[in-house]
Amino acid sequence: TAFFTPKHLAGKRVVITAGPTFEPIDPVRGITNLSSGKMGYALAQAAQQAGANVVLVSGPTALAEPYGVQRMDVQTAQQMLAAVQAHIADTDVFIAVAAVADWRVAEPSAQKIKKQAGSLPSLAFVENPDILATIAALPNPPYCVGFAAESENLAEYAQAKRAKKNIPLIVGNVAQTALGADDNELLLCDAAGTQRLPRASKQVLAQQLIEAISQRLG
Ligand code: C5P
Repeated sequence: TAFFTPKHLAGKRVVITAGPTFEPIDPVRGITNLSSGKMGYALAQAAQQAGANVVLVSGPTALAEPYGVQRMDVQTAQQMLAAVQAHIADTDVFIAVAAVADWRVAEPSAQKIKKQAGSLPSLAFVENPDILATIAALPNPPYCVGFAAESENLAEYAQAKRAKKNIPLIVGNVAQTALGADDNELLLCDAAGTQRLPRASKQVLAQQLIEAISQRLG
């Protein structure tokens, strides 16, 4: 952590999504993923240290609430979208770091599904909303930042994703082991090209990314 943090985001409002989502199958079962939330929480703390008013919309994680940050706990992608929409008015920057489940179970069972000899349950899925693309499509959107995890052709796929979601900045995870790890390596992709942030802790990368975002805000 820097000894002195410049207040790059003083007076700015920032909304961040972090962690996995949890999509229920029945009252005791569900579908989730291995996102730890560390990168999103580090960004929330870095934005707060840079002077921003920060709302952190978080799926289930084992992490403590960052100091001075307003955390909203959610489980499903639909709840995450609703919480973001409830806080997006007058927001300057939206950073989507959450690993949102692409699909949810169409009709979660109200009762625990019983095991029955000789029969297997089958699940039907429906697509979840794309939270980042939804916010980017608002008439007067905040500055939107997305993340991309790709196993190959990172810059090319990240730029394609940036265009598809119609956002100014997308951040590629260079380290393929980023999920759950304490450090990472990032590739910032915007209309001007790409910029590499070399391997460092997620805390240090978060400070560098917040500074890069504040420069792009002008
Ligand atoms: O399309 P893909 O999931 O690869 O895009 C990743 C980016 O989009 C991340 O920033 C993620 O937080 C965001 N996203 C989202 N809602 C979804 C899926 C992805 O906000 N349903």
